[in-house]
Amino acid sequence: MLVGLPGAGKTTVARLVAAALGRQAVDLDDMIAERAGRSIAEIFETLGESGFRALERAATDELRHRDGLVVATGGGWATNPGCMEALAASDVIYLVVDPDEAAARVAGQGTARPLLAGADAAQKIRELLARREASYLLAGQRVDTTGVGTEIVAERVLALASGGSHP
Ligand code: S3P
Repeated sequence: MLVGLPGAGKTTVARLVAAALGRQAVDLDDMIAERAGRSIAEIFETLGESGFRALERAATDELRHRDGLVVATGGGWATNPGCMEALAASDVIYLVVDPDEAAARVAGQGTARPLLAGADAAQKIRELLARREASYLLAGQRVDTTGVGTEIVAERVLALASGGSHP
């Protein structure tokens, strides 16, 4: 299970780690969008953030019963009450990233991220970090991704994971 800010590389790293372990990667946001039949942006528009968080909790509950996954969570997942607790048996790794670098990465990705819409994504990401860091730090392990490519991050995650069960 990978947690961290938007732009930390959770989705890409989960795919690389899963491929190396012969496991399935699950992107929680993709799962939520698929179940809802709508994009994350549409879910925020129609149901608001609280509606999205309810769907995030429901998707997390579904994962409780599935083993052998490498899960990329959304940036707010770790602060959504009950989510981290529901998957307490999994290894949780915090992908740390400098907010300015995270902002540069998401700017290049062109993915719709409702919480970062509008001007000054870097400032918004700094605010998210201030509100969320304590929750991210509940993860058992950390990998700093600042200035590091996703392949190397995945190798570092794998090195950590080989000491436990799986991320
Ligand atoms: C969110 C981050 C997004 C997505 C949703 C909310 C957040 O995922 O779950 O837009 O609260 O930070 P990423 O971290 O993949 O951008």
